[in-house]
Amino acid sequence: MAKIMGIYKYPHPVLREKAEPVKNINQEIQDLIDSMAETMYRAGGIGLAANQVGILKRVIVFDVRDAKEDRNLNVLINPEITQCEGEIVHDEACLSVIDYSAEVKRNAMVQVKGLNRDGKPITINAENNLLAICLQHEIDHLNGILFIDHISHLKRSIYTRRIKKLLRQNKIQIEP
Ligand code: NI
Repeated sequence: MAKIMGIYKYPHPVLREKAEPVKNINQEIQDLIDSMAETMYRAGGIGLAANQVGILKRVIVFDVRDAKEDRNLNVLINPEITQCEGEIVHDEACLSVIDYSAEVKRNAMVQVKGLNRDGKPITINAENNLLAICLQHEIDHLNGILFIDHISHLKRSIYTRRIKKLLRQNKIQIEP
């Protein structure tokens, strides 16, 4: 049984770090993947990047299936966007951003290359769907970027002020 990990929340500094490429896909990475998957499913998310559980390695897990379907876990190690095009606007939220969602403009089409958990190179093409958005959102995490960095400065500062107030009042925790 994979371990459930704690999720770090904005404005914790670990979310601003750039994750390091994975050099060896060893047992430690396999365990990390299993734990990240369990953590994501438990939290009801559709994607999770290793930064969010405090591990600065370039690993993402995601599952954008319809809720009625069975689990369809996807894993990408060292993912990179190799092509992108067009524009799509979608309401986004994040397991690391407490009590908030906002419309974010992203590329409508992306091609992403990376390794699966067996170290095999894979290419994912996604266009005009939740997968395209999810891939950009999770790869952003590996670079220390959150979806709120894509909204207006004004909206972000209003949100940040609200979160800092809740923190001062000890109503939320940003460390698991
Ligand atoms: Ni996120």
